[in-house]
Amino acid sequence: MYASFVLTFSTLIASVVTGAVINPRNGSPWSTVKGHRLVYQFSNGTSVENIAVRSNGNLLVTLTDRPELYEVNPFNPKSAKLIHRFSEYLSLLGITEVSPDVFTLNAGNFTAETGPAPGSWAVWQVAFHNDQAKVSKVTDIPEAQFLNGMTTLESTPNTILTADSTGGVIYSVNTQTKVYKLVLDNEAFKPTPGAPLPIGLNGIRYLNHYVYYTNSFNPIFGRVPVSKSGYATGSYKTIVAGVFGDDFAVTPQAAYIAGNPLNVLTEVKLDGENKVIAGNLNSSLIAGDTSAAFGRTIRDKNVLYVVTSGATFSPVNGTYTEGGKIVALQI
Ligand SMILES: *[C@@H]1O[C@H](CO)[C@@H](O)[C@H](O)[C@H]1NC(C)=O
Ligand SMILES: *[C@@H]1O[C@H](CO)[C@@H](O)[C@H](O)[C@H]1NC(C)=O
Ligand SMILES: *[C@@H]1O[C@H](CO)[C@@H](O)[C@H](O)[C@H]1NC(C)=O
Ligand SMILES: *[C@@H]1O[C@H](CO)[C@@H](O)[C@H](O)[C@H]1NC(C)=O
Repeated sequence: MYASFVLTFSTLIASVVTGAVINPRNGSPWSTVKGHRLVYQFSNGTSVENIAVRSNGNLLVTLTDRPELYEVNPFNPKSAKLIHRFSEYLSLLGITEVSPDVFTLNAGNFTAETGPAPGSWAVWQVAFHNDQAKVSKVTDIPEAQFLNGMTTLESTPNTILTADSTGGVIYSVNTQTKVYKLVLDNEAFKPTPGAPLPIGLNGIRYLNHYVYYTNSFNPIFGRVPVSKSGYATGSYKTIVAGVFGDDFAVTPQAAYIAGNPLNVLTEVKLDGENKVIAGNLNSSLIAGDTSAAFGRTIRDKNVLYVVTSGATFSPVNGTYTEGGKIVALQI
């Protein structure tokens, strides 16, 4: 199962690489990576899945190889502090700040060998009070098959959106009332038949009344306008097809999409123009990159923190894997 998964992934890489179109520059300038720095690397076998940034600048990262949430100070990254081990689960995925210094994350059972376990998924909350973290369950979502990306629905207080990669739908969750609702459901979100993992929809981000999304194995990046409560108010528009996307960071100008098996970070303008700004297929710079987030302090507002799986799902050059890590790209 694992071998055939890697093989299928390689086939996918070949098709995506040859299909990628780098459009000529037209409009606002591309970001250039002026420097990069390894912030922190976990031990071999660790797969970092997602990242959120605290207002004090510290990075919160989730792992899929074990159910652990870590905090890393990017200015003094001697160690990673274990915030909590969610021992009822095997994996943690999307994470987002729902209100000041209160974060929610997706927890459930997933392994690369067995895939996701439907019915195991829940949304949890981690509330920081200075250095203390209070951890509590928000709600189980028993209908969910694979909760992956997560974002804050900024138009409604205390509310997040969570993406079911296998079901190809998005739920809103009010962390106060604990009520969850299926709000978005579209063909663009569904897993493509024959995908090596049952993943359609992957990363989601809310920005200025739009929900941006990637569908990994039917490679598209798109967006849909939404109401205050997260329902579609217009059409689902593909911004670009052919760019393999995991999670991503988005600004009003562009998205910065982690390319996971391609080991690249791609900048995509809202008109679909796109350019690889870091990494390449054979490079370990951001091997198996899974997500990205901008720094939040004056010192690092131009830093894009990229997290990686260490290429465990698709080794670089077919052989090289390493511990998942956090890399700072100065852009
Ligand atoms: C996740 O898997 C473990 C090991 O198989 C199992 O003990 C646990 O009950 C599962 N958790 C959920 C929430 O299904
Ligand atoms: C992959 O292979 C290329 C070409 O042989 C080489 O330049 C590169 O260093 C290799 N990458 C890793 C991570 O070993
Ligand atoms: C990666 O390495 C393969 C052979 O191992 C080579 O065909 C390909 O051109 C290399 N790609 C890049 C982006 O270096
Ligand atoms: C990480 O572990 C894998 C599997 O055991 C091994 O093949 C690889 O060489 C290790 N990588 C490093 C950098 O130690």
